[in-house]
Amino acid sequence: MSLLLEITELAAGYGGVSVLDGISIRVDSAETVGVIGANGAGKTTLLKSIMGFATVQGGGVAMDGADLHTRPVHDRARLGIAYVPEGARVFGELTVAENLEVGGYTTKSRAVLQERLDVVLDLFPVLRQRLSYKGNTLSGGQRQMLAVGRGLMAGASLLLLDEPSLGLAPLIVDELFAKLASIRELGTTILFVEQNAAKAFELADRVYVMSAGRIHLEGTPAQLMEDPSVAALYLGGESVD
Ligand SMILES: Nc1ncnc2c1ncn2[C@@H]1O[C@H](COP(=O)(O)OP(=O)(O)O)[C@@H](O)[C@H]1O
Ligand SMILES: [Mg+2]
Repeated sequence: MSLLLEITELAAGYGGVSVLDGISIRVDSAETVGVIGANGAGKTTLLKSIMGFATVQGGGVAMDGADLHTRPVHDRARLGIAYVPEGARVFGELTVAENLEVGGYTTKSRAVLQERLDVVLDLFPVLRQRLSYKGNTLSGGQRQMLAVGRGLMAGASLLLLDEPSLGLAPLIVDELFAKLASIRELGTTILFVEQNAAKAFELADRVYVMSAGRIHLEGTPAQLMEDPSVAALYLGGESVD
């Protein structure tokens, strides 16, 4: 396995506000890595730091060996990082087709765009049926699929997903995670953050456990499920807030 994303002793936050306190994470090519943690742990800030939307105060993020520190957001997108923010955000006034077109901004090649569109619509047939519908007519689950599809349209080699399960009914979460498993099978490297530890353990090759801006544990789902503190805090169905 070759190293794709390396986060080393990352300290980050917003301006002078510190949120992440020395985070180290590695993601190999074609690996699916999950980060679990309660609300406020710093999961979103972690993804924002990778994409360039948060203030890095120390340490660093490297993609394919290239330090991202000085690179603007659009550069990171061109390097193959796609970010799907939390809350299934889509352009409500644009059609599904237009939303996907926007996602494809990293290339001008019509052939490449058509290829990516075919992949996305094969993955999410429900979007194919609704290509001419406006984003704001979609259900929550369909919207999340469109948000993920838009990330794939950018031709991402690394897909960052912020709480894909958030706000979705359990059956829809199952359906969405089955799609994410298919994306993983296509060879896309995935780094996702989740409060839903049970679903994260189903999807990920490896999981990091985060709280209060730090990583406390790392391991395969099988290893972590044997850890009594993980079982009590994240798999008991109890709120940890
Ligand atoms: N734009 C911001 N400015 C200042 N503090 C923020 C900002 N966004 C989030 N925070 C703070 O950072 C901490 C972690 O937030 P976040 O990364 O969103 O956690 P999570 O995604 O795990 O719920 C929280 O205490 C939150 O209040
Ligand atoms: Mg968050």
